[in-house]
Amino acid sequence: MKKILITGGAGFIGSHVVRRFVTNYPNYSIYNLDALTYAGNLENLKDLENSSNYTFVKGDITDETFINALFSKEQFDGVIHLAAESHVDRSIMDPLAFVRTNVMGTAVLLNAARQSWKANWEGKRFYHVSTDEVYGSLGETGLFTEDTPYDPHSPYSASKAASDHFVRAYHDTYGMPVVLSNCSNNYGPNHFPEKLIPLAIFNMRNNKPVPVYGTGENVRDWLFVEDHARAIDTIFHNGRVGQTYNIGGFNEWKNIDLIHLLCSIMDRKLNRTEGETSKLITFVKDRAGHDLRYAIDANKLKNELGWEPSLQFEEGLERTVDWYLTNEEWLNRVTSGAYQNYYESQYVAR
Ligand code: NAD
Ligand code: TYD
Repeated sequence: MKKILITGGAGFIGSHVVRRFVTNYPNYSIYNLDALTYAGNLENLKDLENSSNYTFVKGDITDETFINALFSKEQFDGVIHLAAESHVDRSIMDPLAFVRTNVMGTAVLLNAARQSWKANWEGKRFYHVSTDEVYGSLGETGLFTEDTPYDPHSPYSASKAASDHFVRAYHDTYGMPVVLSNCSNNYGPNHFPEKLIPLAIFNMRNNKPVPVYGTGENVRDWLFVEDHARAIDTIFHNGRVGQTYNIGGFNEWKNIDLIHLLCSIMDRKLNRTEGETSKLITFVKDRAGHDLRYAIDANKLKNELGWEPSLQFEEGLERTVDWYLTNEEWLNRVTSGAYQNYYESQYVAR
């Protein structure tokens, strides 16, 4: 029986990771620790509430006393750390929130794990989930490898870079068995509608302007969120201690091309005439420090651990649009803020 702490499990990627682990590993006891910030939505995990190997803990990773007590009480065997402030635009408005959660929160977790495991590392593992944005921005060509020097430009990517350094420092200094991954942009169900794809779907659905930053020439590599969760599963179980694995979709898109593809899918799904949805595209002021291009070389993960993305982008995007159109209630509750009352009604009032 393994006891595993997953942080940030009420968020977008975390909820898919929690579901995968709770479902595929009935002999593991999965603890989901989440502060339920604006990005945390327990309605993402409604289907797991009665699973006997699943426990939700509301708490903040920056609260050192609380985190130390939790580790000492529960004696976790492993940690999969996803909790973070994750949106670049918010990091430009409130950088210190990113330093607190992403840097301080990660250090608090590492330290609690160190104290709890007391250098008896047998069977223990601390897995840190990070982003390709730590590598900075590429020009027209080239790919990020695990050896690409760090060159973050936004407060978000700088805070994730700092947290990655702390994780490696705990490995090098104390011998903690850590593993890290740096992934490209995810998309799929349960994505908070402040990020490009869910925001665009929501606005297209509601005939609102679809904001494209600058000229839309920026390039991102997109990966379906369930493929990321599967990569995390693979790396958690089989990744070599102290190693970093890049995860990517081998799937680069200019923002403007992606938005046009989405418009044509929406025209079809909503029975609109061809070209109708694209009239909503609105070019707006560019993001400050906007990285031009991210692209990942995920061959280490492919060659060493046999992981590959399973979905073509067009298919993944169709599935994503279908999910948002059939789960309008989810989207309405997120955009209205109603989802924030769910914890109170389900966990506190009972
Ligand atoms: P998200 O914003 O959807 O979810 C973050 C979760 O962390 C939320 O449930 C939130 O409540 C929780 N959280 C925030 N601050 C907390 C705190 N102080 N204590 C406890 N919980 C807290 O993020 P996401 O998109 O699911 O990203 C998850 C992780 O994956 C992050 O570490 C992010 O850097 C990384 N990542 C994301 C992407 C992407 O495309 N979204 C790509 C690569 C890596
Ligand atoms: P985003 O989803 O915020 O992810 P990240 O900044 O972490 O890559 O943005 C993806 C790309 O889309 C990025 O180049 C910024 C751009 N973008 C827009 O053009 N319009 C928008 O409304 C948003 C949110 C993003």
